Amino acid sequence: GKGTYEYYMLKEIDEQPAVMRRLVATYTKDGAVQLPAALLKALAGASQLVIVAAGTSYHAGLVGRGLFESLAGIPTSVELASEYGYHQGLLTAKPFFIFLTQSGETADIRQVLVQVKAKGYPSLTITNVGSSTLAREADYALELHAGPEIAVASTKAYTAQVALQALVAKGLGVALGQPAATAFDVVHQLGLAAAGQQALIDQKSRLHELARDLFATTRNAFYIGRGTDYYISLEAALKLKEISYVQAEGFAAGELKHGTIALIEQDTPVVAIITDPATAAHTRSNAEEAAARGAKVLFIAARSEAEPSDQLIIPDIDPRLSPLLTIIPGQLLGYYTSYDRGYDVDKPRNLAKSVTVE
Ligand code: M6R
Repeated sequence: GKGTYEYYMLKEIDEQPAVMRRLVATYTKDGAVQLPAALLKALAGASQLVIVAAGTSYHAGLVGRGLFESLAGIPTSVELASEYGYHQGLLTAKPFFIFLTQSGETADIRQVLVQVKAKGYPSLTITNVGSSTLAREADYALELHAGPEIAVASTKAYTAQVALQALVAKGLGVALGQPAATAFDVVHQLGLAAAGQQALIDQKSRLHELARDLFATTRNAFYIGRGTDYYISLEAALKLKEISYVQAEGFAAGELKHGTIALIEQDTPVVAIITDPATAAHTRSNAEEAAARGAKVLFIAARSEAEPSDQLIIPDIDPRLSPLLTIIPGQLLGYYTSYDRGYDVDKPRNLAKSVTVE
């Protein structure tokens, strides 16, 4: 049940540090990742990985791609299930398919799974529901162990998907003898993630204030970032739009000047996510360009990249895992905006928890 919480969404946001720890406890032993041997063997034989997902799970897949490529050294693509069912690109000799799905019931993904099986390609479903259709029908399944997610807006399943992909990528990279995987201390990093999430969750009232300042009456909003900060921009914008009905767009910061900056007016809210040292300076200057045109900018920056005037500081972590932290303010800004506007946060209009039609 909801306990003392008014809405499941806030309860589920608060559960995320515990979910990180549960994943480490479930999938590692003495610092080493434990995966079923048959799964590891099938993954290790792949010439490419294809991650297929929808909505929030797709955004988790975008983060996963960077983890699989950098830790396991296997070319990885991420596909929207609703598109991939109809438009498949060329594949190399031994593709391996990963279906990311909280519910395990998404019809668009099932349609792809049927095609993949008909072609004899191996597949893994990563899901929160071990008894789901996609868990049963893929060759392998791994559970997110996030506990039931009731709110329509997905929160803890997202961070669980990112963390479990990190664990799988680490286990696979070590099996393949990749030095980058050996050097990546996944247990330590997920411990940092849990602690950092808690530190951000503890700043709820501050985030409520920021949500009020920025989004109380606005009809539109932008999140911008580059790399993983871009992927979080997409996910944070989805959180805001699906429960508060603010037209929110996540944008690759460098693309703003190629058209979208025309939408910036006096007081247009822009949230700049700045965690990646490789791109921090560029994203900051993109945000400053927006500010110069009247935008109200909220700077959310990693401690190591922050300026004294930035409004919210993200604890430092391996940049590949920063989404585990930056999504917390994204979730809370969406939650409080919806709450303050008096909406039913858990049951936004027009949406169902799992989308079982194509
Ligand atoms: O159960 P799935 O992960 O397959 O669901 C995918 C999307 O329908 C889901 O993430 C949806 O976008 C959520 N409402 C996002 O909060």
